[in-house]
Amino acid sequence: MEEFYETQLALGQYLLFHYGPPSLQLPYPFGPRDSLDFPARCVREVVAELPLSENARGCDVGCAVGRSAFELGRFCREVVALDRSRVFIEAACRLQEEGKLEAPILVEGDQTEKVEFCVPPELDRQRVRFVCGDALELLPRLGQFDLVVAWNLLDRVQDPGLLLVQLERAVEPGGWLALSSPYTWLCTYTPKEKWLVPGFGELQKRLGVSLELVQRKDLPFLLREHVRKYQWCVAEVTVWHKPKGAPR
Ligand SMILES: C[S@@+](CC[C@H](N)C(=O)[O-])C[C@H]1O[C@@H](n2cnc3c(N)ncnc32)[C@H](O)[C@@H]1O
Repeated sequence: MEEFYETQLALGQYLLFHYGPPSLQLPYPFGPRDSLDFPARCVREVVAELPLSENARGCDVGCAVGRSAFELGRFCREVVALDRSRVFIEAACRLQEEGKLEAPILVEGDQTEKVEFCVPPELDRQRVRFVCGDALELLPRLGQFDLVVAWNLLDRVQDPGLLLVQLERAVEPGGWLALSSPYTWLCTYTPKEKWLVPGFGELQKRLGVSLELVQRKDLPFLLREHVRKYQWCVAEVTVWHKPKGAPR
């Protein structure tokens, strides 16, 4: 019962993070408003700059409830969106079918508020295919993509080094890999001996062999825990290009 409650709250938290109106994400006249709408901003501020073709295929790894996957549909004809949480993927599929979903968000203590979340109507929801599974096992079976994104996934997996190997392989020669991470290493998700510290140095060492770094920048985000508690983080975004002649 406790677990069900926690899962529902995590769902509400991510729905708010991905689809919530700014007035609910941060219901105060002060605070870091430039840090809202992270999943949409990642696509607007990072992917929009890439020279993708009309027929580009994209993959959103660790997509949660799907907002950035739908946003990728602006630039990719086809998007595969993968997450290992069944609850998140089911919510994303409901949003795809109906364009909206009602769920509770935490207000204070055990008090919640029901909110209707909507996918912006201008997004073509049919371009996305949601898949539930562990990226560390599934990615090698999905083929290659012109664009692979993994927003804030690196420090949430058991083996981030292995994830980087698989993300790199999933990029088609001539394609792009976009990552973001606040490098919040925690033993709850990643055994200490697998932490990649310092984050950027390790990315350079592991990806720089076959990919070319084309962009590095800070992108802040705000995650509401309850109405009076927030996580304010600064993710580092890096964008990598796989040369056209690179081996597959
Ligand atoms: C910190 S959240 C980030 C979600 C989303 N990309 C965003 O920026 O809002 C990490 C997500 O990765 C998913 N995840 C964690 N480990 C995974 C794995 N091994 N394979 C696929 N998804 C995973 C979690 O379920 C969660 O949705």
